[in-house]
Amino acid sequence: MLKRTARWCWVPRWIGVKEPFYTEPCAPSPRRLVLPVAPPQRGNCRESSAYGPRPGTAERDSAHRRCANGSALSSIAIFPARKLTSATSMPESPFVETNLFGFFGPDFAWESPVATTLEDLPVRLPAQDTIGLTRIYDARHLQAEAQAGGGYSEARFFDDFGFALLPHESEVEDWDIDPSIAEMDQDVVRLYHPECESLIRSRLLPGRRIELYQGAPMRRGPGTPNPFYAAGVHQDYGLLPYDYQESIEAFATPEIAQWWRHRFEQDDVEGFMVIDLWRPVYSDGPLLHMPLAVCEPHSVRVEDCVPLSLLEFSPTGRPTNQLGLRRQPDQRWYYYPGMTRSELLAFKNFQFLKNDADQSVEACFHAAFEDPGAPSDAKERQSCEHRVSVFLLADGTAP
Ligand SMILES: [Fe+2]
Repeated sequence: MLKRTARWCWVPRWIGVKEPFYTEPCAPSPRRLVLPVAPPQRGNCRESSAYGPRPGTAERDSAHRRCANGSALSSIAIFPARKLTSATSMPESPFVETNLFGFFGPDFAWESPVATTLEDLPVRLPAQDTIGLTRIYDARHLQAEAQAGGGYSEARFFDDFGFALLPHESEVEDWDIDPSIAEMDQDVVRLYHPECESLIRSRLLPGRRIELYQGAPMRRGPGTPNPFYAAGVHQDYGLLPYDYQESIEAFATPEIAQWWRHRFEQDDVEGFMVIDLWRPVYSDGPLLHMPLAVCEPHSVRVEDCVPLSLLEFSPTGRPTNQLGLRRQPDQRWYYYPGMTRSELLAFKNFQFLKNDADQSVEACFHAAFEDPGAPSDAKERQSCEHRVSVFLLADGTAP
């Protein structure tokens, strides 16, 4: 199952934003200031802003029906037709079949977010032998087929599938945070931040006007502050802006969460995403131990996303949001076999677009898993995960 992490470093340091947040250049207008931070509500549709389903609409009504029983009653588009290059139109990839842990059963129902600690979560899940094996496709094959001929860029693949493999040589040699060194002097901050910003601007979101924020990357592996692998199917933030805002409150402060919300509400912001940049580190050979599987977002129905309210998880003690997933046979899982330290996997960990009428799932559920083809003495995984927060701004011209 998911493992509690001893240290969470993903909350971005809001570079350039100084307290008090409301007096900075990005401060909201007085009209914006009166917007309340919606208090937590029960149910799966806590979003009360203009960017959630509009009251009185079929979308809003169907969302409420989802909240009521978690069943497949939604009239919201499930598989957006605009994603014509989804897996259903791609050639079959090689695959492995293995246990992927942490699924809810296909008929699991809920009336309000499942409040649980990570330790208690397994008792709510079905026995793994009732879930069966999960087919995890070779995304190298998929991406190579898509990009064959050169007409299909990394950026388009990332947009269509929600993830992409990027060859990337980093100047970083020491991926660990040394607490005796100022954060901005750490290699992994001093060198990696500009590398990641360049990578996102030029390769993942070229031509997009964006504003991005980065915190400290998070290491995972033996001997690190996070010695466990997240071997349970999950998504880290929820579906809606308020879900993300609550996560900021849980891992940072209400003031930072307010600042985020006000920035998000501003008219020049079209949407927001969290891009996860995940890579093996240190190892000379290909990664064989506990690779990361990602699920193609457009193979996931909204009503199969189980809202979780994780207790005793955040440093503030506030509940935080994740999503669990009801297992369905048409969900498409992928991984990149044998990743090296010269590659990184970029995937969407959260995305919400204000004008996205589809309200489809846009972020990747993910989980570490045991590759059945890996040797028993495979070197234990050492990896680095870096989450970058990106505001998508109006006017599609690059800054
Ligand atoms: Fe995660």
